[in-house]
Amino acid sequence: MKTQVAIIGAGPSGLLLGQLLQKHGINNIIVERRSGEYVLSRIRAGVLEQGTVNLLREAGVSDRMDANGLPHDGFALAFGGRNVRIDLAGLTGGNNVMIYGQTEVTRDLMDARAKSGATTFYEASDVRIHNVDSKHPYVSFVENGETVHLECDYVAGCDGYHGISRQTIPDTIIKTFEREYPFGWLGIISETPPVSDELIYASHQRGFALCSMRSETRSRYYIQVPLDEKVEDWPDEKFWAELKARLPEETAAKMITGPSVEKSIAPLRSFVAEPMQYHRLFLVGDAAHIVPPTGAKGLNLAASDVHTLYQLMLKIYKEGRTDLIERYSDTCLRRVWKAERFSWWMTSAMHKFSDKDDFNSRMQRAELEYYTGSEAGMTVIAENYAGLPYEKLEP
Ligand code: APR
Ligand code: PHB
Repeated sequence: MKTQVAIIGAGPSGLLLGQLLQKHGINNIIVERRSGEYVLSRIRAGVLEQGTVNLLREAGVSDRMDANGLPHDGFALAFGGRNVRIDLAGLTGGNNVMIYGQTEVTRDLMDARAKSGATTFYEASDVRIHNVDSKHPYVSFVENGETVHLECDYVAGCDGYHGISRQTIPDTIIKTFEREYPFGWLGIISETPPVSDELIYASHQRGFALCSMRSETRSRYYIQVPLDEKVEDWPDEKFWAELKARLPEETAAKMITGPSVEKSIAPLRSFVAEPMQYHRLFLVGDAAHIVPPTGAKGLNLAASDVHTLYQLMLKIYKEGRTDLIERYSDTCLRRVWKAERFSWWMTSAMHKFSDKDDFNSRMQRAELEYYTGSEAGMTVIAENYAGLPYEKLEP
């Protein structure tokens, strides 16, 4: 079997890349180790930057997002008993974000792929990548008991943090950078109207909290918890009480509570692998980097990698330009590190790191007061949150 681009992984990265290539007649096959239902069952974040929204539109998968997504022109930082609004649109010259769940993005991409007739192998096992340092790479995997050899020109490693693509790059070449945070986020979804029209990120002595949403009738709330905490330790009543205790009084008073329909705990980590390419293999999205969810950057960074690889593939297949291949990693990494910085900054400034009313706590408060105390400071937050510009492969 032969294709031009073999894509490993049918998460948002692999599906979006596949859809964009498909649109331009660049042949691609996706190999995914799980089932489609499993991929859709993973609940993740829901804030799309303008660049991500534009890319989804370009891929032709935006109808449901444009109909049901909620455009947000701002969000709030809550600390010291008050909410400070960050006016995204006003501070960035009109940029905003779209609230639309990653599960929905994935569903739209899957539907579009099914319609386009492109091939996807689900539930593939023993997926391996071969000869990416030659002109004739291939991917092998087992599907329904048969070994398949998929010959290709390039391999897009879109297989997430636990995938095999990154591991295919020799240890002598790849370098990883990591920070683990000593806490996790306990998140719930409830069929209740959101407490506020806009997201609220709260920093409190009891710990961080986030009020988000999926729609006007569906809320998504999170609280910071110690890493060893179990979901079973958090019946709904306890969750709501703790969430309210971390919000400004006027916000807590408006909170409408109800039974949770989903509840889970996720650890927080920062991670980057360099370089993001090895000859004809390119790492995309979570395969190359992880951010803590505080800045809502995970999916958006994946989309910006996809944009870069898509531009590269257009140069190669439409203009015969193979000279730009080596630029992929550096182009992606410059933006990746900036998003890592912002996610790390928001995480560091807003979470509780110790029980002590210590130097660090005072620094955190000063940090929030300082940034929200001037238009310059708020602009820094706004332009990062709304999304930094995409870089071109050549100036
Ligand atoms: N072979 C084939 N597929 C694999 C393999 C493998 N060896 N290992 C993992 N996969 C699949 C996973 O099952 C998953 O469906 O690759 C896919 C990777 O998807 P994600 O983990 O969602 O990663 P990505 O597509 O890069 O999505 C961007 O950024 O922060 C996050 O929330 C954000 O999940 C989003 C991600
Ligand atoms: C979410 O809605 O799940 C969400 C929103 C913003 C974040 C993280 C998660 O920063």
